[in-house]
Amino acid sequence: STMLEWQRTAFHFQPEKNWMNDPNGPLFYNGWYHFFYQYNPNGAVWGDIVWGHAVSKDLINWFHLPLAMVADQWYDKNGVWTGSATILPDGKIVMLYTGSTTEAVQVQNLAFPANHSDPFLIDWVKYHGNPVLVPPPGIYKKDFRDPTTAWLTSEGKWRITIGSKRDKTGISLVYDTKDFINYEMLEGELHAVSGTGMWECVDFFPVSKTEEKGLDTSINGPEVKHVVKVSLDDDRHDYYALGTYHEKNGSWIPDLPEIDVGIGIRYDYGIFYASKTFYDQNKNRRVLWGWIGEGDSEAADMEKGWASLQSIPRTILFDNNTGTNLLQWPVEEIESLRLNSTEFEKVEVKAGSVVPLDVGPGSQLDIIAEFEMDKEALKKATGSNITFSCQTGGGAAKSGALGPFGILVLADESLSEQTPVYFYIAKDSDGDLKTFFCTDLSRSSKAPDVDKQIFGSYVPVLKDENLSLRVLVDHSIVESFAQGGRTVITSRIYPTEAINGASRVFLFNNATETCVIASVKIWQMDSAFIRPYSDDDDKD
Ligand code: FRU
Repeated sequence: STMLEWQRTAFHFQPEKNWMNDPNGPLFYNGWYHFFYQYNPNGAVWGDIVWGHAVSKDLINWFHLPLAMVADQWYDKNGVWTGSATILPDGKIVMLYTGSTTEAVQVQNLAFPANHSDPFLIDWVKYHGNPVLVPPPGIYKKDFRDPTTAWLTSEGKWRITIGSKRDKTGISLVYDTKDFINYEMLEGELHAVSGTGMWECVDFFPVSKTEEKGLDTSINGPEVKHVVKVSLDDDRHDYYALGTYHEKNGSWIPDLPEIDVGIGIRYDYGIFYASKTFYDQNKNRRVLWGWIGEGDSEAADMEKGWASLQSIPRTILFDNNTGTNLLQWPVEEIESLRLNSTEFEKVEVKAGSVVPLDVGPGSQLDIIAEFEMDKEALKKATGSNITFSCQTGGGAAKSGALGPFGILVLADESLSEQTPVYFYIAKDSDGDLKTFFCTDLSRSSKAPDVDKQIFGSYVPVLKDENLSLRVLVDHSIVESFAQGGRTVITSRIYPTEAINGASRVFLFNNATETCVIASVKIWQMDSAFIRPYSDDDDKD
């Protein structure tokens, strides 16, 4: 496994070994952030799922703690699956999670911290009357999982939603409860979208239309929009939509039916799944966690002894400028890992050129870049009636009039391996410009058996805005944010040469008709402390 050791990340959350998947029950309590996750203690593939647990003061440096819950009851013998935390007005925490029973029926269970005055919340007690919910009539026993955080209705009841499906229609069921023990199912659904299949890990939360801050899950009113997020089991991506919540019947209506949840916008156009937000009452923000799987083979995962990462937690805001999307941005605490930086101001990147950026080793970086376009070139370029997409556009090697241009990360000196993160501006036959943000993995590795897709999507760009990006590079993960987080792409990269000290950064411009002026700032990133808690750490 030493050969693959470089793939371990320096500032992304991962257990010391074995398999991890969904984020579970994130919360802030008594000065500590808690993070739970789907974990296989017995190997680097999915199975034998229990809850891993870690705590942090800043969402970046973590102490691993003992397993929070194991599969020791008939109602979770086949797996302690995904769940969410709710913090009650008196400060107490309730955890709702899915158990897969001895008969593989998906049921919802209740758990509490054994001792609320333990800041680490080490011990968890499962409610003696579990399960508290079983699949309702008409719902298949294996299509009923992943309860959300509860929110309050104006009547003072708690409300939750749970993903499911009917035939091929993805749905989310709604329940009211006063005590988390007895539930009443509402007649309609929160929402349903035909053709989207099973909805896993549904998330439902308000965003502010007027303020740049996050909202507690129970906040409602004219100043907010509500987000529904679903993880589509069939295509393994997380989709969200903005809309309006109707408290009376517990339903939600999308703003734009043509980009309804599950058929429209994704949180991330790379690898990112089963995500979950929580309201961080410590900093008045809403924070998103997402599971980042591997793009290598299962054999490679077993050889290295681990699989999966979590994304850097992202602050979520409604994008007031476009009104059509959220903004996702790495939590500010990640900036505490920034070491020395190098700035490159107004570098001219001519059509068809590559410019090296000398910043030393390129395996732990935080990069921000802004690109000014040649306005004349934008006007002059001839339109095309071919609809561009990152996936079909031929990647970073294929020249167009106004793109691709951007940055090459995890590249070796000779560019025999490189991962381009780039913009492509397409002009249609009416002369309208549309900007795309892509990541091309096709030349990211010489290894034969790793993911080499081209990821990406449209990114909204407003009049007179320059194009901007932020890229976090951490050994085998590249997280890229365009236009302040309107469009995001996370990829896993497995180079054979461009590793550790041998990885470099370049600017490139493969457009034929425009020069771009790039201003770039690049920080070397320190490693985070992510390790088991020991009694020596008590001094805190
Ligand atoms: C999503 C998911 C959830 C389930 C859990 C099991 O990745 O399949 O629906 O609760 O993972 O590990």
